[in-house]
Amino acid sequence: MKAFSAYVFDAYGTLFDVHSATARHRDEIGPMADHLSELWRTKQLEYTWTRTLMGAHRSFRDLTAEALDFAAARCGGITTEARTKLLAAYDTLDAYPDVKPTLTKLKAAGARVAILSNGTPGMLEQAIVSAGLEQTIDACFSVEEVGAFKTAPAVYNLVGRRWGFSPSEVSFQSSNRWDIAGAVKFGFRSVWINRTRQPDEYSDLAPELTLYGLAELVVGQS
Ligand code: 2OP
Repeated sequence: MKAFSAYVFDAYGTLFDVHSATARHRDEIGPMADHLSELWRTKQLEYTWTRTLMGAHRSFRDLTAEALDFAAARCGGITTEARTKLLAAYDTLDAYPDVKPTLTKLKAAGARVAILSNGTPGMLEQAIVSAGLEQTIDACFSVEEVGAFKTAPAVYNLVGRRWGFSPSEVSFQSSNRWDIAGAVKFGFRSVWINRTRQPDEYSDLAPELTLYGLAELVVGQS
């Protein structure tokens, strides 16, 4: 039984491991690799929120590069070659092991499956192909169509605009609790994939379900 017309997934942190880029090139970065990766992600997201608030959009690809440059400068610098490798790795991030089995299961149950992400269409296409997920994703919704980042309501509205579903017909999954807050506010049935066991927040914008991985996501569960 398919409880929802569409299962829509955040990309970075939910389907793809953002820290797999530095993990692949740890030896070239040195002992600061983990700190660099955390700061890279933190600044990347900060830029999306500030630029949406001030109405100064730049693509997620540009912001990802700018955030890497900031993080690298704070961590003692990296070579041009390492920078090139890290940005290339960001286009082919590892998918978490539970992704392909879960999306395949949803497709087999007759569900529509999509990605809704800050990533550019090019970034998302490369990520999907490199992870071998082409057969499991029916559509990619990129914020580039809107010119603003999550948690702008117009971003979540992309699903309804393209597929015609009302927000409550859509099950939205994200590992980013701030993204879940935006999805709850918009009206999606929201499932927080708390992969790293973070403490809860945004208590007034609570998900319907909190899981620790995608394997627990069952079609028809509510
Ligand atoms: C996304 O994929 C950045 O994780 C966020 O939209």
